[in-house]
Amino acid sequence: MSTTSDSQSLLQYGANVTHGVSRITEGIMKSGKGSYVEYDDGRKMLDFTCGIGVTSLGHCHPKVSKAAADQCMDIVHVQCSIAFHEPYLRLIQKLLPIMPDPSLDSFFFWNSGSEAVEATLKLARTVTGRQNFICMQGAYHGRTFGAMAVTRSKTIYSKGVAPLMPGVFTMPFPFWHQLGLPPSTPESTLVAQSLYQLELLLAQQTAPSDTAAIIVEPVLGEGGYVPAPAAFLKGLREVCDKHGILLIADEVQCGFARTGTFFAIEESGVRPDIMVIAKGLANGFPLSGVISRKELTDKLQPGSFGGTYAGNAVSCAAACAVVDAMHAEDILLNVRARSAELLASLHGLKAAYPGHILDVRGRGLMLAVEFATPAGPGAAHDAVASPQVGKTLAARVAKRCIEKGMLILTTSVYEVVRFIPPLNISAADLKKGAEIFKEAVEEVVREG
Ligand SMILES: Cc1ncc(COP(=O)(O)O)c(C=O)c1O
Repeated sequence: MSTTSDSQSLLQYGANVTHGVSRITEGIMKSGKGSYVEYDDGRKMLDFTCGIGVTSLGHCHPKVSKAAADQCMDIVHVQCSIAFHEPYLRLIQKLLPIMPDPSLDSFFFWNSGSEAVEATLKLARTVTGRQNFICMQGAYHGRTFGAMAVTRSKTIYSKGVAPLMPGVFTMPFPFWHQLGLPPSTPESTLVAQSLYQLELLLAQQTAPSDTAAIIVEPVLGEGGYVPAPAAFLKGLREVCDKHGILLIADEVQCGFARTGTFFAIEESGVRPDIMVIAKGLANGFPLSGVISRKELTDKLQPGSFGGTYAGNAVSCAAACAVVDAMHAEDILLNVRARSAELLASLHGLKAAYPGHILDVRGRGLMLAVEFATPAGPGAAHDAVASPQVGKTLAARVAKRCIEKGMLILTTSVYEVVRFIPPLNISAADLKKGAEIFKEAVEEVVREG
């Protein structure tokens, strides 16, 4: 076991870690249990990030960790082109009944979300024989080349590394910022505007017969935590059906019970042709999945999909335990109850600071507060921005929360703080987090 002084001397090697990775806290995170993590210097922090939506059942959930440890003693690596392993097949058995549509019956497991997005793009091109993709303004799908090409949340992800994958077209997500409309714009107008732009895109830029798929996050993640209205997803489905275009739902961040249903798209009743999952799927073990219809994937040539670590046995065993724990612990009920409590607290804060808080939004335990932006994207339409509102409110509030013992993240090019607490968080810990946030907002506003 290492001592604090050992780990302090280790910190010097932080200078040897690539500058390309950013970090929001100093020091070494040493352990995690449930909703809390501990640093080597004794700091204990409430974790409202879940490692960006990954440790949804809390850190080191005993049943998940045990399932992984047990699997480690049986077999760790079964390469997917050499043989099946039991957890891979058992995971399919457990996932089939919770799919948003029974047509989703063909699985490919990978490691990360980005890799699964790459596989999805390859699948869509292969089975349609078409090249082009339509993605959403504000979307995030990952940092590999295909995933970067369909990412539109921040230029930092692909700045200076072009050429990316060609054949990508962008349509607006029905989010007032993306459409340059006021925040008070009715949802029906946002949906109509977005779908109209899609029609234009198909008439002016990418012919339907050249378009393989439309890729959408049912809740925009890195783009600002904005749920897609059901009418929008239905509209996309209709356009896809009309033109033989595939609909890809990226549920990497919003899936796996995060929004109060197993998959965020369920709420709309819309059937995706391909669904991408990762993050919460294995509670911290690297595992992602591309789920589609057998009728589509039967067109793939054996050997065209695969990878050394694809569907690792330990990760799959952990994922099986995640699904079991989600059922046994009534996770969806907890998500809905805690979500209502957090929303009530955030709406109360908005009412108290109408000049500083522009919006409270999200679904389940994927919630966000958007602060007023006197300058920057959307500023012209910012109904509440006043000269008194300082810049970078979101970053300052997040930093203050961290100083007060709670990990929390910002998101998007707008002034947004996002809440991604564990899905099994207790009412008491949720209340504690909401109070830390409230104090941080009060202090930052007071400081101006
Ligand atoms: C919606 C979405 N898709 C894809 C990805 C990429 O996943 P990964 O970071 O595992 O490559 C992310 C990561 O944040 C995501 O939020």
